[in-house]
Amino acid sequence: MRSNPASVIAIDGPAASGKSTLGLRLANALGYLFFDTGVMYRAVTWLALQRGIDVRDEAALTALAEKTQIDVAPASKSDGRACDVLVDGQDITWETRRRKVEANVSIVSAYRGVRSALSQQQRRIGQRGRIVMVGRDIGTVVLPEADLKIYLDATAEQRARRRFDEIIARGAQADYNEILAKVIERDRIDSTRDVAPLKAAEDAIVLDSDKLTADEVLEQVLALCR
Ligand code: CDP
Repeated sequence: MRSNPASVIAIDGPAASGKSTLGLRLANALGYLFFDTGVMYRAVTWLALQRGIDVRDEAALTALAEKTQIDVAPASKSDGRACDVLVDGQDITWETRRRKVEANVSIVSAYRGVRSALSQQQRRIGQRGRIVMVGRDIGTVVLPEADLKIYLDATAEQRARRRFDEIIARGAQADYNEILAKVIERDRIDSTRDVAPLKAAEDAIVLDSDKLTADEVLEQVLALCR
């Protein structure tokens, strides 16, 4: 007898491991909602920088995460975005990708209060089902009951190369060595923090995207879903 396909799919992994590409394609193939939770941490970080709030001020960052209305919606433009990110109604999708945000987001996302505010919202959305949720702690903390958990890994060099190619493809300037150093630093902070550190859930299936093309990763995960 065939069981129902997985309804809640969690994809975790380090920076630029291909989680968003996989998640978006998987969600499209299944007709599910794609939800990249990283954009919420990026949105709070962007807003703090915008308002001149010191990212080392944990209490201020927690208050900001608690009161800000962050909406993640299906992409309204085909300009390379995976989804729209709105803060209090304003489209800040590309602002969340800025270098300054990337350099500070791991500091902000390590705060217990920030995580608590954002993961509560993520959990509410995830529990509705028919969703592919992507992040660092989805299989371990946000949705430990997920039907399928994937941990997508790759070497730092390969991940930095991918991020470099993405930036160049957007027509912007990039320095590979700088990107590599930042990817390594972000992973270090994400995996050593006290609250919800980056790690594979015990029941996650670990895939190494160094050895697989994006199509192969998608095929394997689709087979697992069914
Ligand atoms: O796209 P990339 O893998 O570079 O990063 P992201 O998924 O947009 O996440 C940005 C940052 O948000 C990460 O480096 C983490 O510090 C944080 N994050 C997190 O702590 N928990 C999540 N569920 C998602 C992101």
